Amino acid sequence: MTIKIAVSGAAGQIGYALLPHLANGHVFGHEQVELRLLEIPQALKSLAGTRYELLDCAFPTLSDVICTADPLEAFDNADVVVLVGGFPRLKGMQRKDLITRNTSIFTSMGQALNDVAASDVKVLVVANPANTNCLVTLKECSSRINPKNFCALTYLDHQRAKGQIAQRLGVSANKVKNVTIWGNHSETLYPDALTDGYLVDEVGNKMPLKSTLSAEDVDWLKGAFVSTVQNRGKKVIEIRGSSSAMSAAISAADCLKKWLVTGTQDGETISMAVYNDQGYYGIAKDIVFSFPCVCKNGEWIVKEGLTLSKLAYERLEISQNELLEEREAALELIEPKLKRSISTSSSTISMMSTASEGSLSDVKSSSVVERNAILSKI
Ligand code: NAD
Ligand code: LMR
Repeated sequence: MTIKIAVSGAAGQIGYALLPHLANGHVFGHEQVELRLLEIPQALKSLAGTRYELLDCAFPTLSDVICTADPLEAFDNADVVVLVGGFPRLKGMQRKDLITRNTSIFTSMGQALNDVAASDVKVLVVANPANTNCLVTLKECSSRINPKNFCALTYLDHQRAKGQIAQRLGVSANKVKNVTIWGNHSETLYPDALTDGYLVDEVGNKMPLKSTLSAEDVDWLKGAFVSTVQNRGKKVIEIRGSSSAMSAAISAADCLKKWLVTGTQDGETISMAVYNDQGYYGIAKDIVFSFPCVCKNGEWIVKEGLTLSKLAYERLEISQNELLEEREAALELIEPKLKRSISTSSSTISMMSTASEGSLSDVKSSSVVERNAILSKI
């Protein structure tokens, strides 16, 4: 069987770094793959050059490369879709403007998926604002495609967190397990190494970070580590002059591999931003939120039952509220039918708390309450 993989924004930086990993067996092993490269018309010339290069690599697992500006052609019966193409954040642009520009693009992506993709297609959204782009897309096709078939990329943040810890402790990054990125792929994300994180020693023993590390290292994990991971994307842009591409491409490829091909190892979680239909950890339903996930047989499962500190819940709440605001901004542009489906299925609930921590406040902002009240009357 040939796996049909569509990549939007394929002529961009991440596309260029990602395509070889999809074509050369790194993600899909010995399976044959057909790549459908989707771009805006102005980028098709440069995309044709990328196609030549892919063919020149003579990958034994690459059966065909199709370039198109038509999502219906790219997604036709597609098994896997990676949405990298979007409207970039320009200088001086507010986050809300970015959402406005991208909501129309991702509405079209969702409609095209609904029209022609395989009903069991798996979709990874990379383009920013990744969580909300993912929400908009899955909402457009949820009558035919299960929202569980979508995720937004926070595995890059996960790997950044592991990289920071490995550097600090002088260990190999693959000895650091179960850090969790909670929330939005933005500066409000919460990198959490203390709830479930552990190190693996030479003989395979698991040593929880919270009980193994020195007080100084634990303080670092609660302080500088958090802001370093939260701001890493911005820092790369500042220094490199453009946003991370190699690391984003590798983490997108590895997220697909763990999700769809190998699964996660026993006892291991990865971070994925997924559709929260269950209110996991007391987070508002109906947003795409990053959780610790176990992957098995091509499915993700949120790891439940972790005990979070009060501080951690406060951080999750901040990121949740940002995502609720992003959803509001996206709703402004989405047709009334969809607005209704989002607002009526939405139920924001108070954050859960452990018995020892007492209750935290209700997290729903008044603007969200008002908006949902209006929308539910449409
Ligand atoms: P880029 O500007 O180099 O490439 C984007 C490409 O998308 C361009 O070639 C553009 O022509 C194309 N495009 C724009 N609109 C399109 C549409 N409607 N259909 C198809 N293609 C379209 O950007 P990049 O560096 O490759 O980054 C891509 C996206 O990934 C950006 O939104 C960036 O912010 C985001 N990003 C996300 C993460 C993450 O971890 N989630 C990390 C890094 C970057
Ligand atoms: C990243 O995390 O590197 C990117 O999401 C940053 C950006 O704004 O493109």
